Amino acid sequence: MEIFTTKQALQAYLSGVRQHNPKIGFVPTMGALHAGHLALIKQSKAISDLTVCSIFVNPTQFNDPADLEKYPKPIENDRQLLQSEGCDVLFMPQVDEMYGPNENWHIDLGHLDKLWEGEKRPGHYQGVTQIVYKLFQLVRPDWAFFGQKDFQQCMVIQYMVDHLRLPIQIKVVDTIRDPDGLALSSRNARLSPTGRRQALALSKALFTVKLGFEEGESFTQLKEKALDFLHQAAGITLEYFAICHTADLTEVKEEDDRKSPLVAILAAWVEGVRLIDNIRLNN
Ligand code: PAJ
Repeated sequence: MEIFTTKQALQAYLSGVRQHNPKIGFVPTMGALHAGHLALIKQSKAISDLTVCSIFVNPTQFNDPADLEKYPKPIENDRQLLQSEGCDVLFMPQVDEMYGPNENWHIDLGHLDKLWEGEKRPGHYQGVTQIVYKLFQLVRPDWAFFGQKDFQQCMVIQYMVDHLRLPIQIKVVDTIRDPDGLALSSRNARLSPTGRRQALALSKALFTVKLGFEEGESFTQLKEKALDFLHQAAGITLEYFAICHTADLTEVKEEDDRKSPLVAILAAWVEGVRLIDNIRLNN
């Protein structure tokens, strides 16, 4: 695996490789890699000639400085995982390699910037698009891989690609979960064994909603049951739960078509760690 820490070295390498017209797959990450990230690498490997992964804990997308500071950085372990997965290129720049002083960025993200994660984490998606745009310009991949775990992030990236007409396909990869249902997340590492057990309430609520939906329960019933369950669950402070249209993430109304693609989304705090999860209710 080739490892680069500067834009120049990465670009020099890629421009050499590009002479052979490879299909380039790109997996942007913030490191602390787990099987969820590796699933993206696997999917890229399956269809690309060259897979590039970036590890960069992007400061502009953290609205909570403590969250940024506590973000795990097990770089040697990450490197080994990528190596054994057969990743071809790792790009891991320092902050000043990616950002100059006083940079400004603003992109219109429509209402995606104001709903759910957009509302709860002001500026977050501006920071995400700022870095992903920079990385896309550097790597110029044919396709880039994102996890459904961050459902709204996938929508935001697709919105940016459409809006700026970037010649990149966005591929969304299913959420990888532990056998007990907990969605893998780098932040899970910050939970105690008790917190981890408590966090299971999140996926449990989502699985129950999906089952109830399949059995024909009304949206109101589904939401009430999920809220009751999550409010009573030990150690969980719920931020939001909603059943939304996947097309625009607006919340369903009772009279809406149950066959239109829907997703149940939630965010909650466990032991001071903010977790998000979602499940698609139909396809
Ligand atoms: P990070 O949280 O490291 O996630 C990198 C990618 O892995 C994202 O596309 C995310 O959705 C995916 N991922 C995380 N957990 C997953 C799981 N359990 N199953 C499947 N995929 C999973 O998301 C970011 O970094 C950043 O916002 C980034 C896009 C890199 C921009 O800084």
